[in-house]
Amino acid sequence: MHIEVTQLNKQFGEFHAVQDVSFSIEKGRLIGLLGPSGGGKTSILRMLAGLETPTSGDIVFHGKRVNDLPPQERGIGFVFQNYALFKHMTVFENIAFGLKVKKQSKEQIRERVTTLVELTGLKGFEHRLPHQLSGGQRQRVAFARALAPEPQLLLLDEPFAAIDAKIRQELRTWLKEMIERLGITSIFVTHDQDEAIEVADEIMIINKGKLEQKGSPWDIYKSPQTQFVASFIGESTIVEDISKLKGFEAASAHPGVKALIRPEYIEIGKLHEFKIASATEPGRIKQLHFRGSEWMVEVTVGDITLITYRSLEKDILQPGEEINVLVHRAYLFTNDESWIMENRLKEDPMPVHI
Ligand SMILES: Nc1ncnc2c1ncn2[C@@H]1O[C@H](COP(=O)(O)OP(=O)(O)O)[C@@H](O)[C@H]1O
Ligand SMILES: [Mg+2]
Repeated sequence: MHIEVTQLNKQFGEFHAVQDVSFSIEKGRLIGLLGPSGGGKTSILRMLAGLETPTSGDIVFHGKRVNDLPPQERGIGFVFQNYALFKHMTVFENIAFGLKVKKQSKEQIRERVTTLVELTGLKGFEHRLPHQLSGGQRQRVAFARALAPEPQLLLLDEPFAAIDAKIRQELRTWLKEMIERLGITSIFVTHDQDEAIEVADEIMIINKGKLEQKGSPWDIYKSPQTQFVASFIGESTIVEDISKLKGFEAASAHPGVKALIRPEYIEIGKLHEFKIASATEPGRIKQLHFRGSEWMVEVTVGDITLITYRSLEKDILQPGEEINVLVHRAYLFTNDESWIMENRLKEDPMPVHI
């Protein structure tokens, strides 16, 4: 189902929970709605579902405005973290619930539930009650129940938040494969950036009721449009006065500009390790943290501390050691603009690694 949302607003009394949010979603896409708690993600989802009325704005499904359509007529399936299964119903009865409401025949119901039980790997569990299942299995039942009436849009609100890390990881992969196989348009809410990056085709970053950016995980990572997005996705150091760093003096033309530097944009090493030694400047190792597959290094240049990584194969560094530092690029932000600044002393633009 193609979705078009225009200038969506939700106010709770004086409080503006969702502000002028507009986006469109192509049929069959899996979208991650990502942002800190309290940002308005659930409110957006509830308006799409018809469980909350927008203060203003339009919600259009498949070319038809659905603002006034009740939830059961919107062709939507939900999986919510706290949208519990019916406790006294078996797995079979839970999945069959929406079909019974639609007054389907016993035969039709049996056929559909059997298909879903197989699809979700719940064969053999049909007659169990929810308390006889693991958390992961329960969420798979919730997923099957949501899919039973063949919705055209699936809404998942932090479906794995209450499940422990290892199982959550398995469920993510499972969910992504499942949704790809079914080709159903889906919106997946999470506050966990790794989860969003891993699961979604496209991410929408929501903060304080506003849509900050929409794009593929990689696009958002490499071209964040706001300071919030840059610091929320991936790791980085924020630098108050980047014009003090060699190669970035031109930033002083933009008073009040802030810079954000990703670890992979910083190179450290002995002078002979650099192609363009003249672009480096002296720094000092402040701290080293072993991260299992690499070192996380805190390095100071003047009064600026930067964070970067160093591979285990290279010479081991020591705190206090003098080292050369080359900052390849930075994201610069003012209140209403953002851009990438390359180190002007480098000859070649930085190669982009994924
Ligand atoms: N029914 C409501 N009445 C008043 N305030 C609400 C209501 N629902 C949500 N809010 C407020 O709106 C903001 C956004 O909430 P929510 O959409 O649940 O955010 P998220 O899902 O991103 O954590 C929060 O500050 C929350 O307290
Ligand atoms: Mg929420």
